[in-house]
Amino acid sequence: MSENVNKSINECDPFAAADFIRSKISFDPFFGIVLGSGLGGLADEIKVTDRISYSDIPGFPKSTVEGHKGEYIFGYLDEVPVILMNGRVHFYEGYPMQQVVTPVRVMALLGAKNIFLTNASGGLNRSYKPGTLMCINDHITSFIPSPLLGPNDDRLSTRFPAMSQVYDREYMAVMHKVADGLGIPLEDGVYLQVTGPAFESPAESRAYAMLGADAVGMSTACEAVVLCAMGVRLLGLSCVTDMAIDNEDIEVTHEEVQAVANQAGTKLIQIVRNTVSSIYRGL
Ligand code: HPA
Repeated sequence: MSENVNKSINECDPFAAADFIRSKISFDPFFGIVLGSGLGGLADEIKVTDRISYSDIPGFPKSTVEGHKGEYIFGYLDEVPVILMNGRVHFYEGYPMQQVVTPVRVMALLGAKNIFLTNASGGLNRSYKPGTLMCINDHITSFIPSPLLGPNDDRLSTRFPAMSQVYDREYMAVMHKVADGLGIPLEDGVYLQVTGPAFESPAESRAYAMLGADAVGMSTACEAVVLCAMGVRLLGLSCVTDMAIDNEDIEVTHEEVQAVANQAGTKLIQIVRNTVSSIYRGL
């Protein structure tokens, strides 16, 4: 059993994946960016220099979900060198958490010292509505297995990393300034990650709201944990696509989540773009 666990973790060795990519591409990224469901439009704004499909990387997990592509895009967002993860894998697809976080670890190993995580989420804060954008200022991971379980790899992080400031305060201030400048309302809130794939029951949503979460989703926080442990400076931006709270009479669907994310996506993209560029220029 433990042999199998270790085998499945090692099959997805982020160092081997980073070496493989470096053998194909020479690129020095300033920012890594993860695109959530329906938010892939940012990929069209990139002056692309290279693409690598996850399926070409030995041992890499492959996204199985409609609306989630699976590739790295290397290129320039305005003048900023970036790696984009166009699609991610999720725990609910059946991959162990250690594999779910491999693609973001690889971005950090390729040199991205700053990473911008985006996602679609369900609103728990009753003042939100579909289309609300939320700067993630903290998270709750108590309902998912930690991606740091198992033997510790000291090359990646210490055994007991602190999580007192996962999302970078200075960068969050830049994001808010950018949103204000663009005239785009931006909330600040706590993101709670669940395993999914079922959406929340009304009682679950009420429970999560009582715990202090403003939005709920099925990704991101696990990535933030391993990246914070690696010392990466992080930003998180969530597009609230539906209200998970008070949902007794409404049935949310994946299609609706994608449709709202696509609509709000243009605003999200503007915020990501200008924030990355402001940070790059040292503003
Ligand atoms: N719940 C969980 N994840 C989600 C939701 C939701 O309501 N919307 C988009 N992702």
